[in-house]
Amino acid sequence: MWRSPVSDAVVALVRPQPGERVVDLGAGMGPATLTAARSGAHVLAVDPTPFMRRILKLRLLASPRRGHVTVLDGAAESLPLDAASIDALWTVNTVHHWTSVAKAAAELRRVVRPGGRVLLVDEDFEDPTHPFFEQMRQRRAHASHFAEVDPQAVAALLREQGFVDVVGGFEQVAGRPARVIRATAPR
Ligand SMILES: C[S@@+](CC[C@H](N)C(=O)[O-])C[C@H]1O[C@@H](n2cnc3c(N)ncnc32)[C@H](O)[C@@H]1O
Repeated sequence: MWRSPVSDAVVALVRPQPGERVVDLGAGMGPATLTAARSGAHVLAVDPTPFMRRILKLRLLASPRRGHVTVLDGAAESLPLDAASIDALWTVNTVHHWTSVAKAAAELRRVVRPGGRVLLVDEDFEDPTHPFFEQMRQRRAHASHFAEVDPQAVAALLREQGFVDVVGGFEQVAGRPARVIRATAPR
């Protein structure tokens, strides 16, 4: 939750550019946020859990890139962001927490500017080749909300919202199995 090769890979795939406004949705303790802040983009780290936001803010105090990050209270289904204000948005290991993927898809469509890019990645802990397969099986058994993520169903909801070049499927990210959805907001 502090550093992760998957978060680093996701940021590398999204390639935030200097001056862009990008969103790390469900930023948690900020592994992707801290990596992305090095790009010169401004990172909006959105998370609904006060504890996570508190840890991330404390972590940022020690970071020379803290001026490039804003931590915000929000969730996929209700983003605290203006319409068409975002150049790129990604999320790592949060889609299984979303309470409504349909609402989230509508929110992504609202906030991402025309031509803006979206990358949703949930590591596939149900794949026995995942290094944390056993550990996560026990955690899932006790979790209160841990939705099954069907990448093709998520992709279909993004298409319904008008996103283009939408692809959803199972891929390797940083050498780990993952459920991945890519999309671009229509121009
Ligand atoms: C497994 S952690 C992943 C955190 C971080 N992205 C990472 O890779 O370390 C899941 C995060 O999703 C957040 N979350 C829960 N429900 C959410 C929602 N509806 N929308 C966005 N994020 C959510 C949690 O607060 C938590 O920080």
